[in-house]
Amino acid sequence: MIDPSATGVIYLADNLDVLRALPTESVDLIYIDPPFNTGKDQQRVQLKTVRSEEGDRVGFQGRRYKSIVLGSRQFSDVFDDYLAFLEPRLIEAHRVLAPHGSFYLHVDYREVHYCKVLLDAIFGRESFLNEIIWAYDYGGRPKNRWPPKHDNILLYVKDPSRYVFNVDEIERIPYMAPGLVGPEKAARGKLPTDCWWHTIVPTNGAEKTGYPTQKPLGILRRIIQASSKPGSLVLDFFAGSGTTGMAALELGRRFILVDNNPEALAVMARRFDGVEGITWSGFDPAPYQQRPTAVAGMTCQDTTP
Ligand SMILES: C[S@@+](CC[C@H](N)C(=O)[O-])C[C@H]1O[C@@H](n2cnc3c(N)ncnc32)[C@H](O)[C@@H]1O
Repeated sequence: MIDPSATGVIYLADNLDVLRALPTESVDLIYIDPPFNTGKDQQRVQLKTVRSEEGDRVGFQGRRYKSIVLGSRQFSDVFDDYLAFLEPRLIEAHRVLAPHGSFYLHVDYREVHYCKVLLDAIFGRESFLNEIIWAYDYGGRPKNRWPPKHDNILLYVKDPSRYVFNVDEIERIPYMAPGLVGPEKAARGKLPTDCWWHTIVPTNGAEKTGYPTQKPLGILRRIIQASSKPGSLVLDFFAGSGTTGMAALELGRRFILVDNNPEALAVMARRFDGVEGITWSGFDPAPYQQRPTAVAGMTCQDTTP
């Protein structure tokens, strides 16, 4: 699967195929940020037929009927399709996660409750550790409701009695009122809670790759620091611009990244330009790199056991 001395493997593939080829309990930490636009937007209209002399349908013995629209189930169908897409991938994620492993699912406020119910069924309610609220302050403010300015990150562990949580490694944050806690505590800062204030990726900063759904490195650093150890294997199978891999690299962890969009792979090729020890599967990064160091063009089967 991945050589212990390798930095990482990056696949251009459907993640379900890659997940199915990974060995059971082989990954220490999983973070995913799936897109929502995966389901078909179908509208299922529910009809009831009643007897009516003005009806436009003629039935048995010439009786006339009309149809009454009872309602539309578009809303739930969209979520059904989304969950039907996610479920087999989440089941595989649970299988490949090591006994001490952690799983982070990044979604938004419209999806989180559906995903929570699904994950409770797959991991068990006792394996649910946190719902992290990532709060940011960017973009327009609708005037007809509270402006939604947060994402939700659900944290599950494979086994609630033996997971990794490096409380001492977590970067501490400044107190809101440092004058109230004394100079020593103020200098140390405090442990972040389950509400994380963090800016989005700055629109013109060095971190920006141009990939539309890119998440901030700061969020991924915190997750990887807390829930894995140096040398651990971190998996992101909706990798996008490769933020998880970047954070893993900085923190001395190995990674597996998967995305089925060649544009994401092109962004990752630029982002990891010059990094030693990355294997690319199903994609040649060379045209996007100035300092290519990778083995290009391998297939999924070549890099899996
Ligand atoms: C929201 S983006 C992830 C962004 C990422 N967290 C970052 O920081 O750049 C979701 C990604 O999932 C990918 N994706 C969607 N369906 C997929 C599938 N079946 N297999 C692999 N990747 C998929 C999309 O191409 C997209 O890049």
